[in-house]
Amino acid sequence: MMKMLHSYWAYLVLLILIIAVINGISGMTSKREFKDRDLRISLFTLIVTHIQLIIGLGWYFMSPWYKSMREVGMGEAMSNTALRFQAVEHPIMMLIAIVFITMGWSRHKKQTTAVGKFKQIGVFYGIGLLLILSRIPWQQWFN
Ligand code: HEM
Repeated sequence: MMKMLHSYWAYLVLLILIIAVINGISGMTSKREFKDRDLRISLFTLIVTHIQLIIGLGWYFMSPWYKSMREVGMGEAMSNTALRFQAVEHPIMMLIAIVFITMGWSRHKKQTTAVGKFKQIGVFYGIGLLLILSRIPWQQWFN
């Protein structure tokens, strides 16, 4: 159940995050006003990614990957490519990505100009998106 939720919620995460990054970059380059709609897109993205973090954390401690890691020990887990990816690289990279997204959100609030706001969202959410794309278990997801 938790695994399925994590798997389906990921579609929403990618969709809204891509929209937020495009919206941030296009707002920055077109120099338009930062409106309510822009605020809502950025906030919704922040919430959706944080929910994924909670689901991911919940699933992590129940997952067979975590169990295997505890059984074989950290040293052995690190030398097993599949186990290292699922139990260490994916969770840590996603956590870092969400830290970047959160930084983008809080930095945009401190900006006084629309261009500044769009820039913080575009850049920080963009870095978050790239990090997420780099460590999704793509093959497993689509199987
Ligand atoms: C934005 C954040 C995240 C995204 C987009 C994401 C996305 C995904 C996707 C697409 C899968 C493959 C699901 C499948 O095979 O159907 C997956 C698997 C997994 N994720 Fe995440 N994830 C995120 C954050 C996290 C976090 C923070 C943790 C743990 C702390 C985590 C733990 C796991 C684990 C353990 C698996 C392996 C599932 C299994 O095969 O048992 N994820 N994730």
